[in-house]
Amino acid sequence: MLLCNFGIIRSGNGFDGPQMPDSPQLSSLGKSDSSFSESPGLFDKDESLEKDLNVLKYMDKSHQTKAVSCKQEGLPCIAPLIATVEETPQTISAQVRGHFPKWLNGSLLRIGPGKFEFGKDKYNHWFDGMALLHQFRMEKGTVTYRSKFLQSDTYKANSAQNRIVISEFGTLALPDPCRNVFERFMSKFELPAITDNTSVNYVRYKGDYYLSTETNFMNKVDIETLEKTEKVDWSKFIAVNGATAHPHYDPDGTAYNMGNSYGPHGSCYNIIRIPPEKGDLGDTIHGAQVICSIASAPSFKPSYYHSFGMTKNYIIFIEQPLKMNLWKIVTSKIRGKAFSDGISWEPQYNTRFHVVNKHTGQLLPGMYYSKPFVTFHQINAFEDQDCVVIDLCCQDNGRNLEIYQLQNLRKAGEGLDQVNIFDFQVSSK
Ligand SMILES: [Fe+2]
Repeated sequence: MLLCNFGIIRSGNGFDGPQMPDSPQLSSLGKSDSSFSESPGLFDKDESLEKDLNVLKYMDKSHQTKAVSCKQEGLPCIAPLIATVEETPQTISAQVRGHFPKWLNGSLLRIGPGKFEFGKDKYNHWFDGMALLHQFRMEKGTVTYRSKFLQSDTYKANSAQNRIVISEFGTLALPDPCRNVFERFMSKFELPAITDNTSVNYVRYKGDYYLSTETNFMNKVDIETLEKTEKVDWSKFIAVNGATAHPHYDPDGTAYNMGNSYGPHGSCYNIIRIPPEKGDLGDTIHGAQVICSIASAPSFKPSYYHSFGMTKNYIIFIEQPLKMNLWKIVTSKIRGKAFSDGISWEPQYNTRFHVVNKHTGQLLPGMYYSKPFVTFHQINAFEDQDCVVIDLCCQDNGRNLEIYQLQNLRKAGEGLDQVNIFDFQVSSK
């Protein structure tokens, strides 16, 4: 049995990056079952698996909720939170309100975009800014702070040329203006460089910390100095073109993640397992394995996903109708468009749930559907009385990637209200 607790968010933060102020922008509003349905025609019952995971049946009707359209006005302007800031490489004392207990020692690490332009070139999307690493160190009741920009190859190339050299999710790097007209034209046909601006999350493999985004690159980092120590390429270890920035961990340190692969026959969603032990000191993600591949539907339009769920025994992957048009993405440079142009909300595909036994790598038979929604962060997943339960934030409207254009996020007053007018829904009992 698969249960899903939907927390429908009103105007959706739910992203990594700048901390949002305490505001009504993120409000998880509890259970809803109105959008989930069984698809018995597609569920292929397997007796041997029934004990582990019974047929889909969602929540009893007592939790029926009502969805209402809502527009909120007067939201606070968040433009200062998405402006370029200076790094603070030397440790400074942090201003503390209240007090920290003396027994609390360690570092709180955060990462997010902190630089949104180079020279005259400006980034367009919240996800594009250069990674700024933050460290809050707590020791004997005091707190210190420092921050450093990640010295990625992307950051260094952009800084050296004082322009945006490497394309990001929502920003296409323009040809070098120093080249002649012919060279600039021909450069459109060069393969685009993939960013290593790993600005999304700190992750941990084999006891080491890495900075991750969703491309094939991660950067290993020393969490004491905030210095990058090594650039790691997923595709050198396993046949994936990247992995999410939200892996899950077993108690013994075994890590699970998901990444896509693209081939002549279409694309696959791959579940990756990384062992907990290092082979030697120089070990990074050696021994990573793809334990399950799930074909996307349609073949050349895989779904975008930002995270997935994991319980003690299962991986839950949500294939949502936020579709990546691979042809559009591959030709984005020629067409003069950013990668984000290749992602579109296509609710006709609905939302599909896949459940995989993480010990055997076996995709469980049957298919679970709900009406279309978009989710970025799955909050929790667990098993309870032969059920797999997942909690997640979701939105009925798949246009949220557009909302996170910087020009929208920096608006204030009525302009911000207009951004917020998209038809988000609030559940109420
Ligand atoms: Fe995230």
